[in-house]
Amino acid sequence: MQIKTTDEILDNISAQAVIVFVVNKNFSHAWIKHKKALEALNFKGESEEAALLAEDGYIYIGCENLEADELRIAAAKAVKTLRQTSYKSAKIGSYIEKDGVISIGALIEGFILGSYEFTKYKSKTEPFNLEEIIVSTQSYSQNAISLEKMRYAKNNALIIANAANWAKEIVNTAPYDYTPVQMAGDAQKLASMDGVTCKVFDEKFLEEQKMGAFLAVNRASVHPPRLIHLTYMPKNPKKRVVFVGKGLTYDSGGLSLKPSDYMITMKADKSGGAAVMAILKGAAELKLPFEIHAIVGAAENMIGGNAYKPDDVLTAKNGKTIEVRNTDAEGRLVLADCLCYAQELKPDILIDMATLTGACVVALGEYTTGVMGYNDKLKHELYRAATQSGELVNALSFNRYLKKLLKSAVADISNISSSRYGGAITAALFLDNFIEEPYKDKWLHLDIAGPAYTEKEWGYNQSGASGAGVRMNLYWLINQKGDE
Ligand code: BES
Ligand code: ZN
Ligand code: ZN
Repeated sequence: MQIKTTDEILDNISAQAVIVFVVNKNFSHAWIKHKKALEALNFKGESEEAALLAEDGYIYIGCENLEADELRIAAAKAVKTLRQTSYKSAKIGSYIEKDGVISIGALIEGFILGSYEFTKYKSKTEPFNLEEIIVSTQSYSQNAISLEKMRYAKNNALIIANAANWAKEIVNTAPYDYTPVQMAGDAQKLASMDGVTCKVFDEKFLEEQKMGAFLAVNRASVHPPRLIHLTYMPKNPKKRVVFVGKGLTYDSGGLSLKPSDYMITMKADKSGGAAVMAILKGAAELKLPFEIHAIVGAAENMIGGNAYKPDDVLTAKNGKTIEVRNTDAEGRLVLADCLCYAQELKPDILIDMATLTGACVVALGEYTTGVMGYNDKLKHELYRAATQSGELVNALSFNRYLKKLLKSAVADISNISSSRYGGAITAALFLDNFIEEPYKDKWLHLDIAGPAYTEKEWGYNQSGASGAGVRMNLYWLINQKGDE
């Protein structure tokens, strides 16, 4: 599906269908041609409400205000409605609240995010007839946008939304088909882009690097682990941002085996890794002026005679010893070694992303990412970017009492807390043990366990993977460019 932009007025554009948003329940706007028919259909103009008047080729979508995320949701609903028709082309005007670039960006992101479908394993799929959506600069409101600005918004929006969809495809893929080696292969493919290089390391390197925690997690898997290191290097980079992602291609829990109901969806435990790769891809396409690294700890947590065990003591890359009390708290072990590796790159900013704890989902709900770290300014910046992108985030604060709960009688630290409460924060505090003093203020941890994968659709997100973390971090990076 193509998105086209034009400064022709709507009436002069030829397309089989017209998309009209009913904004703020205002049915008297000149663009609304079927007031009576809509009344008869009981169409109220509420969010996510759609009416298809097929004879005239009109699609009306409820849009309660012109906020960016409301536009994304309305755009996605329009695509979903068009999916059921045979229309090949549709046109729409501009819906601008204040800033045209933000509004048009959100609209186009909504079209692309909403058009994603995971069909890899379906033997039959419904044909998707829609070939193009034409967006006109003609505006619904007093606020207008130039064609040049619209093209800038479109370029960014396509890159951001396609990056999120790319991450979804990885996360949705079944664990049999998506092993650490597969993940490394996808990373290597990105190296064909301008300025992007990729290094893939195997067990031998992990042993040389003394990554005893990472290696232990993968020991019972028939698939070998991989440490993936992607770099995007523009000319004269302004700063160095390092992303680290948890790439558990499957998390069975290990010997601390998950109950069967909880094991389902654990193919999504690679979401952090998929997100950091997608961010790097997006950043390279956006040609951002920053040096960006994406490091993925790709492994599989399985059971077997050689599995790592509760009671084992592991030594991480930085020499710290870890008492294993639960093999299902494996993500933090992989991340511990990857974070040590990441700091050797001397990052200006270090962001890790992981489906780390069920506790984060309990704390914040399924739709919200937990943000943890010491740097309040950085947390604020991310909050702003997340809001612009339509992703939900909430900060969870550290405290000295929770920190103490990771004490171990036999090793430097235990891999689980001694309390059942505050699990998202204690997991982050475990990671904190692997962040050296100069990087404490440069580090942010994002627990995406909730939004990364949900088994029901929400807003413009399909059932399954959502690409959590991709859009907010790309918005954050774009904002950094402006703040220079
Ligand atoms: N991958 C899980 C966390 C998870 C849970 C992600 C639900 C997405 C949805 C992680 O490895 C895990 O199992 N964590 C344990 C930690 C516990 C043993 C301290 C958990 O959350 O139960
Ligand atoms: Zn686990
Ligand atoms: Zn896990």
